[in-house]
Formats: sequence, C-alpha cells, structure tokens
Amino acid sequence: MRIYGPTLLALLIPWSVATSQVRVASPNGRNQVEVATRDGRLYYTVQRDGRPLLTPSLLGFEFRGAPPLRDGLRIVDSTRNSVDETWTQPWGEVSRVRDQHNELKLSITETAAPDRRFTLALRAFNDGVAFRYELPQQPNLADFEISDELTEFVMADNARAWWIASNRPRLDRSEQLWSEGPVSTLDSVQTPLTMEARDGKTFIVIHEANLVDYPKMNIRGPRLDSRTLRADLAPYADGVKVRGRTPFVTPWRTIQIADKVTELSPSVIGLNLNPPSVIPNTDWIKPMKYVGIWWGMHINTMTWNSGPKHGATTANTKRYIDFAAANGFGGVLVEGWNVGWDGDWIQNRNAFSFTQAYPDYDLAELARYAHSKGVRLIVHNETSGGVQNYERQIDSAFSLYERLGLDAIKSGYVTDMTSEGHSHWSQFMVNHYRRVIQEAAKHHIMLDVHEPIHDTGERRTYPNMMSREGARGQEYNAWGGEGGNPPEHETILFFTRLLDGPMDFTPGIFDILRTKTGPARTNEEARVRTTLAKQLALYVVIYSPLQMAADLPENYVNQPAFQFIKDVAVDWDTSRVIDGKIGDYVIVARREKNSPAWFLGAITDEEARTFNVPLTFLDPGKSYIADIYADGPGANWLTNPLPVTITHRPVTRSSRLRLALAPGGGQAIRIRPVAAPRRRPSAP
Ligand code: NOJ
Repeated sequence: MRIYGPTLLALLIPWSVATSQVRVASPNGRNQVEVATRDGRLYYTVQRDGRPLLTPSLLGFEFRGAPPLRDGLRIVDSTRNSVDETWTQPWGEVSRVRDQHNELKLSITETAAPDRRFTLALRAFNDGVAFRYELPQQPNLADFEISDELTEFVMADNARAWWIASNRPRLDRSEQLWSEGPVSTLDSVQTPLTMEARDGKTFIVIHEANLVDYPKMNIRGPRLDSRTLRADLAPYADGVKVRGRTPFVTPWRTIQIADKVTELSPSVIGLNLNPPSVIPNTDWIKPMKYVGIWWGMHINTMTWNSGPKHGATTANTKRYIDFAAANGFGGVLVEGWNVGWDGDWIQNRNAFSFTQAYPDYDLAELARYAHSKGVRLIVHNETSGGVQNYERQIDSAFSLYERLGLDAIKSGYVTDMTSEGHSHWSQFMVNHYRRVIQEAAKHHIMLDVHEPIHDTGERRTYPNMMSREGARGQEYNAWGGEGGNPPEHETILFFTRLLDGPMDFTPGIFDILRTKTGPARTNEEARVRTTLAKQLALYVVIYSPLQMAADLPENYVNQPAFQFIKDVAVDWDTSRVIDGKIGDYVIVARREKNSPAWFLGAITDEEARTFNVPLTFLDPGKSYIADIYADGPGANWLTNPLPVTITHRPVTRSSRLRLALAPGGGQAIRIRPVAAPRRRPSAP
C-alpha cells in the first residue's frame, strides 16, 4: 500500500542568509535529519532520539571548469511525502521487505550567478537515513565534470570503526582483512563502514545505494585531526570523478542506524532505495548450490591453462556433473574452459575468447549432458579487466550461452586498473558492470561477479545480479604466502561487507589441513583456519543465493558432515541474528523459503565459546528434530580441526540448545518438522 501523506506539501520555509532549517523524521520519530544553511553553505545533521550522531556535515560539489556548487546557497522550497509499502523479493535473506519512510525534498539555489539549482532528497527510515542530490536540467548546469563530491559525514563521537583501506596499490580489490580503530584515525577506507558509538548503544553504517552512472564512493578519513569523514569518489584516468549532463541524480548516501549490532542484519535500507525489478518474469532466476572446477586451480592440482593438468576437460566436467546430479547440486562452475589462459592471463587480458573453448572441452556436449542430468553449467568469464575485449564479445557470447541453455555466469575482473587507466571503481567501470547486468538480463543469464563494484542494492532492479565476491573469500586459505583468513575474519565480514549484499565466499572446504594434496599444513602455511563444523556453519552465516561446495568432490566422499551441505537451503523467508559481537562471534537463524524448516549457524573467532540458544523462533505447538553438526571432542582450528559430532534431538519452541564452539569453530543445525525426511530429493 502506498500512502501519500501530507501529499506534496509545499512548505514556505522561513530562511535567512544566516540560517534556515528543515527536518524530516523517521516514521517512529527516532531518526531525524536536519538541513540548514550557514553562511551560505549547506549542512545536514543526523540525530537518534534527539542525540546527535552526525554533527553539521557539508554538502555540495566541485566541478572542473565551473565554480563549486557550495557557496551562497539558499533553501527555497520543500515537498514532503510518506511511503509505507511492502514488496516481495524473488530471492533473498527475507522474502518480504517493508519500505516505510518519510521523505523531504529541498530545492536549493545559488543566490548569485551562475544561479544553479539542485534538489536534496532526504529519506528517514526507522533503520536509518539517506539522501541524494538531484540536478535538474538548467542553462548554467548542462554538461558537467565533477572533480569532487563535498559530502561529509562528521561523526558526533569518536566511534569505533571496522574498516578496509581504499588506497592500497591493488585498487581492484576489496580483499583485505579488516582493521579496527577510532574514526579519528581513519585514512582512506571503503564502505560499508560499520561503526559503534563509544557508549556501545548505537551502530552506524555508512554506505551508498543505487550506484548508477557514477563512481564508487569510498571514504576519506580525518587522519587524526577531527571526526570528519568525506566522500571520496573513484576517478577516471584524468582525475575527473563524474562526467554527466543534467537532468542527473547521484546515488543515495545511506546511514544505517541500529541500537544493537544484531539489528544491522539483514540490512534492507539499500534495497528500499533501488527501483523495483525491471525484469517482469523472474521464474528463470533460481538460487542454487553449486560445485565446480575451481579449488583444484587454487591448490595447484589443476590448471586454468591448457596442458597435462588442465582442469576444464570434457571428462573431468562430466565427473563434476555426475557428482552434482547425485548430490542435489544445481550447478557446475567450470573455470579455464575458454581460450586465453595460456601465458600470463592477467597481462594478456585481450587474449580471452568468451566463445572459443579449448580443444579438450566440448561446450555444446557438456551443456547437453548437464541439462540431461538436471544440472546447470555455470560459465566462467574472466576478463582480467579487459573491458573492451569483453564488451566486444558480449553479444555473441551471451547469445551462444542462451542458445545452449547456459543461464549462469561467474565473471572476474582481476586487474589493477582498466586498460584506459581508469580506477577499477570509476564511473567508467560502474557503467560497464551495469551494462553487463542488463545484457545478461536480456539473455536470461544470472550473474556472480568477482572483483566487483561493491553491492548497492542493484539486485532489487535486476534480480539476475545474484552474488558477488568483493571481500576476502576462501581462496586466500588456498594460497601460500598470503596469510590466509584468521579465525575472526568471518565474524567481522558478517557485520561489514555482508551488510551490502550476498557474497560468493565459497565455503565447504573439508580437507582443511590439505592432507589429500600434500603433507598436512600448519598455521603458517596454506590451509583453512577453521574447524570443519565452522565450514558448515558458514552456509547459514554467509548469505548467497549461489552457494558453492568449494572442495574437490572426492573430499566429500564418506563424509557424514556433507549431509548438511546437501540439506542447507539457499533461499530464505526470514533471517534473524540471534547474537553476535563484531570480531568475536555470530549466531544466525534463517527459515527456508516456503518451508517450515529452520537453519542455524554459529561461528566464533579463535576463542572457544558456549551459548544457550532459546528456540522461540519456532512455531508454537509444532515438534521438530534438530540435526546438529557440532565441533567434536578436542576440536580446535589449529591443532585438531576435523572432529564433528552429528546428533539428532527432538526440539520445540520452548527448547534451548547449548552450543559449544571450539576455538575457531562453529555449529550448524537444521531444524525440521518431525514428519519431514532428513534427506532432500537429489534433484536440484
Ligand atoms: C579470482 C576469483 O576470485 C577466483 O574465484 C577465480 O578463480 C580467479 N580469479 C580466476 O578467474
């Protein structure tokens, strides 16, 4: 239901050169944004329950070849609107999303030449606030080049922040370990930027939504001199940040707010700020679990390139397809199938063909074979950032895939910069990624993008944009010399990167010590830094509609714990964070879409922890069985990661489960109504 109240109420704002103020509050009245001019400059503040979270923070732009849009500004008009509507996602962490907000639109003009004007649109939700700039068509602001967006986020207190840098030499990557520290010490960081107020009573996340035709926003920190965070847009090669022509709107700048860390997830503010789906029939878009010819390349038992260890052979792929079909997986990813991998594939980015397979890989036959087994082939498109090479081939490649019934692509952008020298996160690249989503939608293709632009909720408009990487995933545990992912990693990931959307983390490595591919590895070497039970729990904790069982198929044989991966759902009606602390632990419960079954995942850092979890989320009056996959006796991520104890016990809504997590451990639980069979059918 859409309620317009007080419909487009135009207010005559009392203003003076010194100050004019307007405010908008969230439907529950707790979050409030106030906008004011001071000495002709425009500022906003954010309050929660009357307490400042952001103190006066500047708004505006600098341009190349034109004066800044910053001085001599006046609020001349305003309109208000209220919305309360609930919409349904084709897939997600929750199926129904409520968009309830109050909106205020302010018309701002310059008081002197060049007399430009813009609208500041503000929305106050119960879970945060957001604003964007809207630049209408006008004579003195037609074609423009933005050299800096002046938006500030001035933190009211020196909040504690969890951050990854945005200015590392490898600008393509968000694949870092998180650091933690007070806002005053931040330098250049990425969003979502999660912060905890010093009193521990408010959590604030700065991010952006609906990033279209604009560069990615990073954050420039105060570097010790204040608590002022500034928008920091990724540039073109010549330093310009945005090239545009009015009418033009920027992405939303979002400030998610919660009293407790457990209320941050699932985060829907960004989804609510994206337009509804433009894909009328989404029946072909299907969440799935998949296996793939992938981990073998990362642990060097196979190669992407041609030769004796080539992974993507017809015979090997058939073996994976058979394994997928026998175990109920929906897809098989095949990397290294296409010509272009020989030599230095990162440098030779223009050598990739997206239609020509290596001679030992029969694409058409494999498409047919997979189809006959009820499995999808997931096509891999590594571009190495060769955007022009990719764009030249998109039409023929996507048409070929569609003809063969191949409806999912994992793409990759391993690169430092584009060949044109633009930042990996520039407007140029944002536009490229969007074009690919649109082309894929036209050809009925689902996407899983690695080395992506961060998620800003585009999956609402294009539900074929399903998952992405955009953080440090499992692969770091395969590589020597990179240090792997420490046990705390995923407990931070959950409250930071995962607030912006699904992640293709690729959990499910069972050969944790890599005994099957060489001698067992200690902490210092390439190995996985979790217990096996924690690998299972990650399927519930880390949300992705495309969820991989990443290990070699042979490592799942005769492993009773594999049953959990077969059982776990990938699409959810509802999700609840039961408990958590950033960097320490997290417990998540999710109810399977269109099913009474619940799944619970709990993970910890290097500390052993116990929890007593009430199952009050279950339906009253129903009897369930809990299939529990717990760290076994003596389990420890470092010394003894493999023991898993599997038990089954009856539970009801009034039961409590005692969860004992080993150091670096976890627990995964399926809670199914008593009548339901334990195994799901093997068809995907
Ligand atoms: C990096 C991706 O994250 C990984 O999954 C992929 O295998 C390689 N690039 C090669 O494309």
